[in-house]
Amino acid sequence: MDKERKLIIAGNWKMNKTVAEALDLIQGLKRELAAVKEVDMVVCPPFTALSEVSKLVLDSNLRLGAQNMSENTGGAYTGEVAPMMLKEFSVRYVILGHSERRQFQKETDALIAKKALAAHAVELKPIVCVGETLAEREGGLTEQVLATQIHGSLAGLSKEQMNETVIAYEPVWAIGTGKTATTEQAQSTHAYIRSLIQKMFDDAVARRVRIQYGGSVKPSNARELMSQPDVDGALVGGAALEVRSFADIVKNSI
Ligand code: 13P
Repeated sequence: MDKERKLIIAGNWKMNKTVAEALDLIQGLKRELAAVKEVDMVVCPPFTALSEVSKLVLDSNLRLGAQNMSENTGGAYTGEVAPMMLKEFSVRYVILGHSERRQFQKETDALIAKKALAAHAVELKPIVCVGETLAEREGGLTEQVLATQIHGSLAGLSKEQMNETVIAYEPVWAIGTGKTATTEQAQSTHAYIRSLIQKMFDDAVARRVRIQYGGSVKPSNARELMSQPDVDGALVGGAALEVRSFADIVKNSI
């Protein structure tokens, strides 16, 4: 598939996989995906598996991501993980502001912006998540919600930092529900997000920023979604937990 931007497909394992299970999955992915050069591939295991997984992915084309981190650099923050601690395990990416964290940990756009700046301070690339709920889409509020999230979560980033940031558009109603946005919905929403980036930064940044789609991405819908001009990859949940389905999503996207 000839795309303007290199696709980036990431697996968000969420709160799944023991260390042993994680290593199994990585071994399988390495076997299946060793020849892939056309797509940037990222795995985001839970914190507890980062250390062991980092050793296995070192000699591979898989890059490592984390699912969250603190906005602080260190100190008395019980239960938190500092950005530099992720760097110790060769983590390159960090998912920020996933809708589950917005919902269950009450993360705000302002907090996510602080985390994005903290990530850039140690050269971690943030994957900043945005997306509307079903009620918001049905109420005609999608664009308004996304504009607020984009402006708030990316506040204070320089153009250079934005060039090293990935956006994940994940409609909340499509996450883990089996309901995928139609390709038209995905394309038009991604184009809208890119127009927001153009206004907030400039043309060059908007042309360069990669916008992933997330929400019930499967081998069967990956090709059509990834063929949309403004869809530059996927953030995969459930289907990233099995070798076969994640590998097929990647292969079907090429
Ligand atoms: P599913 O692929 O399970 O719908 O999850 C999407 C997601 O939340 C990825 O971050």
